[in-house]
Amino acid sequence: MKASVTKGLGQGFVVEEVELAQPLGHEVRVQVKASGLCHSDLSVATFIGEDFPVVLGHEVAGVVVEVGPQVTQTKVGDHVVGSLIQYCGACVNCLSGRTFVCLRPEATLRPAGQPSRLSWQGAPVAQGMGLGGFAQETLIHENQLAVIPDEMPWAPAALIGCGVLTGAGAVLNSAQLQHGETAVIIGAGGVGMNAVSGARVAGAETIVVIDIEDGKLERAKAFGATHVVNSRTTDPVEAVRDITGHGADHVFDFVGARPVTAQALQMVAKGGGLYLIGVSTGDAGVEVNSIATLSASQKVQGVYMGSSNLKRDIPLYASLYLQGRMNLDDLVSKEIGLSDITAGYEALKDGNTARVVITDFA
Ligand SMILES: NC(=O)c1ccc[n+]([C@@H]2O[C@H](COP(=O)([O-])OP(=O)(O)OC[C@H]3O[C@@H](n4cnc5c(N)ncnc54)[C@H](O)[C@@H]3O)[C@@H](O)[C@H]2O)c1
Ligand SMILES: [Zn+2]
Ligand SMILES: [Zn+2]
Repeated sequence: MKASVTKGLGQGFVVEEVELAQPLGHEVRVQVKASGLCHSDLSVATFIGEDFPVVLGHEVAGVVVEVGPQVTQTKVGDHVVGSLIQYCGACVNCLSGRTFVCLRPEATLRPAGQPSRLSWQGAPVAQGMGLGGFAQETLIHENQLAVIPDEMPWAPAALIGCGVLTGAGAVLNSAQLQHGETAVIIGAGGVGMNAVSGARVAGAETIVVIDIEDGKLERAKAFGATHVVNSRTTDPVEAVRDITGHGADHVFDFVGARPVTAQALQMVAKGGGLYLIGVSTGDAGVEVNSIATLSASQKVQGVYMGSSNLKRDIPLYASLYLQGRMNLDDLVSKEIGLSDITAGYEALKDGNTARVVITDFA
């Protein structure tokens, strides 16, 4: 089968003929129908990856074509979405419903000693995040898959697996925003827009979106932002205080640069929270003054994958989309072929492109 292989740091994405193993145990063979281009895969391919060659791609949707002997949660013909959240289902965190902090995430991968799921020219090939969606087919552990309704279109379905779980989950699960509360979303990209959708679903009274590009802010209004602020031209801390009166109940940082996060903390109301999701520099973080923070009863929380339970949340967002209550169509800016990944990532630099999705695997 064809797969796009990254052979080393900075060596891009090259389509090759790659072998896929037979499904063992809880593995499911999925024919990929859509695969989203997320920034983190580009980071792996250009500066943080260690395991090469590798097939990346972690926003995957497709059809189940074969199941391993121990699979119980899905069957041939099911439409599924994959997620990079790996969980064992048996540790104390999994058993308390918090699968996103599983203590044995490697349980969804093949243990050392077993043949690789992927190989190229007779040698093993790594599989990005247990998913490897930049390929015609892939083998995924059933715990990393959720079944979606057949009528869900493929391109928006793929985006649910990372960007939607992260953005909407940050609001609904991590912050547990209550109706009538106020939210600030910093960074109006492909993930931040889903936080806007999440805030809308939860009944936020005020949804302020902050970015440095007017085009992104215009799009944010279409997703449900009640106020937008261009932080290049307006002091965002003052703007948030003007809009909310006393700061925001929940401030979500999808940018992750020290000056931005410092401003984000200043926007938090008494009793409110700051949520750290994005990382754009190696020293991303924030200085927290204990006295100021304790006297205002504030919290600062790191958010991994929107604190999501993928088996519950992926079908939920698909359902909200099908009911017209969650905008995913405007996230799909461009559909491309498997051999166009490099150009697809280039296109993402354009301010008007939210997400690029591979839908042609021929
Ligand atoms: N924590 C997690 O589990 C998790 C999961 C997925 C993605 N992420 C991260 O979430 C972040 C957002 O992802 P994305 O795909 O939406 O990225 P993106 O590039 O599409 O969006 C980032 C947005 O931030 C804006 N921006 C840049 N600098 C800014 C500044 N100084 N002030 C205000 N806005 C600024 C950009 O204009 C852009 O609209 C990334 O850092 C990504 O790695 C985290
Ligand atoms: Zn991602
Ligand atoms: Zn576990």
